[in-house]
Amino acid sequence: MATFTLPKNSKIRDKGEVHRAAEGAGRVKKFKIYRYNPDSGSNPHYDRFEVDLDACGPMVLDALFKIKNEIDPTLTFRRSCREGICGSCAMNINGSNALACTTAIEDLKGDIRITPLPHMEVVKDLVPDFTHFYAQYASIRPWLQTVTPTPSGEERLQSPEQREQLDGLYECILCACCSTACPSYWWNSDKFLGPAILLQAYRWLADSRDEMTGERLDALEDPYRLYRCHTIMNCANVCPKGLSPAKAIAETKKMMAERAI
Ligand code: SF4
Ligand code: SF4
Ligand code: FES
Repeated sequence: MATFTLPKNSKIRDKGEVHRAAEGAGRVKKFKIYRYNPDSGSNPHYDRFEVDLDACGPMVLDALFKIKNEIDPTLTFRRSCREGICGSCAMNINGSNALACTTAIEDLKGDIRITPLPHMEVVKDLVPDFTHFYAQYASIRPWLQTVTPTPSGEERLQSPEQREQLDGLYECILCACCSTACPSYWWNSDKFLGPAILLQAYRWLADSRDEMTGERLDALEDPYRLYRCHTIMNCANVCPKGLSPAKAIAETKKMMAERAI
């Protein structure tokens, strides 16, 4: 049986700080939050924070802000839009990848445990390193590629039906909730593109205006890049936008098979 040795500094030392709610707090919710600062030389640990929900907004991101603003300003996390559009607040909440800004505290039973997205290097606390993920995104050339010139100033038009082919694809916010929930991506992220990037790759394969379909398929024709997907479906289950990368991957495999005939 294969055995895996975790890097020394990835072991969680489960003895962090405990920050109690103020005396007389109304509805107290406990948050257990992963903390890691590579500059400290210490292993990661969990800190515990009690938050008075009567003095906090309804979402997990509101609680993180409250903790950062009122209890521990060193708590580090990413966020921008706070409405499920930018994808930057993706993290693991009670064992599931999700956006902190669209996850309601009241939907989570018991104490809430928050860790960074799994299987990514951690920059600090809840901030994962997206360098490799973005390099993989760049590798699929995520822009419209054409060879046929159009008269200057003329747009490349689509029929409503052609435009519809992009529904379920263009909405992706590149949060990486899906890729970091995919066991194939955990073990082969150096070579397998993972669900998020493959959904984006299919977004351009499905675009009636793009003229590089053959080249795009050639670039995916590889035992790892595309074919490491084993239809485990974790990706579709966690996507906060309700998309199905697994379906996009299946469509890509179908295109591959059809051109081989
Ligand atoms: S369906 Fe494919 S991409 Fe999605 S989680 Fe499973 S193996 Fe990963
Ligand atoms: S497919 Fe969904 S989970 Fe994956 S990156 Fe896009 S929005 Fe996030
Ligand atoms: S802050 Fe933008 S998706 Fe959550």
